[in-house]
Amino acid sequence: MFTDQPVPGEAINGVLLVANLASSAGNMQVRDFVVVKNEETRRRLMAANHDQHHITDAPVVVCCANMDHTIQCGLRGRNLYCMQNVATLVENMLIFIAASGYGACWIGAFDEKQVADVLELPVHIRPVTIVPIGVPSKDGDKLPRVKIEGLIRYECW
Ligand SMILES: Cc1cc2nc3c(=O)[nH]c(=O)nc-3n(C[C@H](O)[C@H](O)[C@H](O)COP(=O)(O)O)c2cc1C
Repeated sequence: MFTDQPVPGEAINGVLLVANLASSAGNMQVRDFVVVKNEETRRRLMAANHDQHHITDAPVVVCCANMDHTIQCGLRGRNLYCMQNVATLVENMLIFIAASGYGACWIGAFDEKQVADVLELPVHIRPVTIVPIGVPSKDGDKLPRVKIEGLIRYECW
């Protein structure tokens, strides 16, 4: 998926700046990022990620929800906004990464506890999405989408 060309630190910093522009519930900006470049740490992360190898092929950004502050938004904050806050910034990242000529992938299938242990996250920091960022080895496959007409209802269900 990725070549072994390195990704410069400035490129990752740019991605983080764009992620930080994302909207968030109540503009509380309760999100944190862990950048992992170290190969051994990435190898341990891969083990927590059902052996998804793109994690060892490129530096990764682990996008986290900060539950300490989200709790101020009540149950909806704890159950829903915390995830939406991260989802919206990840989409910002993916669009920016693609527009910059790099490649990325949204990784959501992982053992949360294992990832938290590897990264020594405090209990109020939940890893939500892992985004490896690399130089793509080829153009990604364009996966088809369900036709939009089949998904829309007007006025009511
Ligand atoms: C919530 C979520 C979780 C995902 N988890 C993974 C994952 O663990 N591993 C992976 O390779 N892709 C993962 N993806 C990426 C999807 O598989 C991918 O977006 C989908 O197959 C469509 O491909 P495309 O985005 O290239 O069009 C995830 C995407 C989302 C939105």
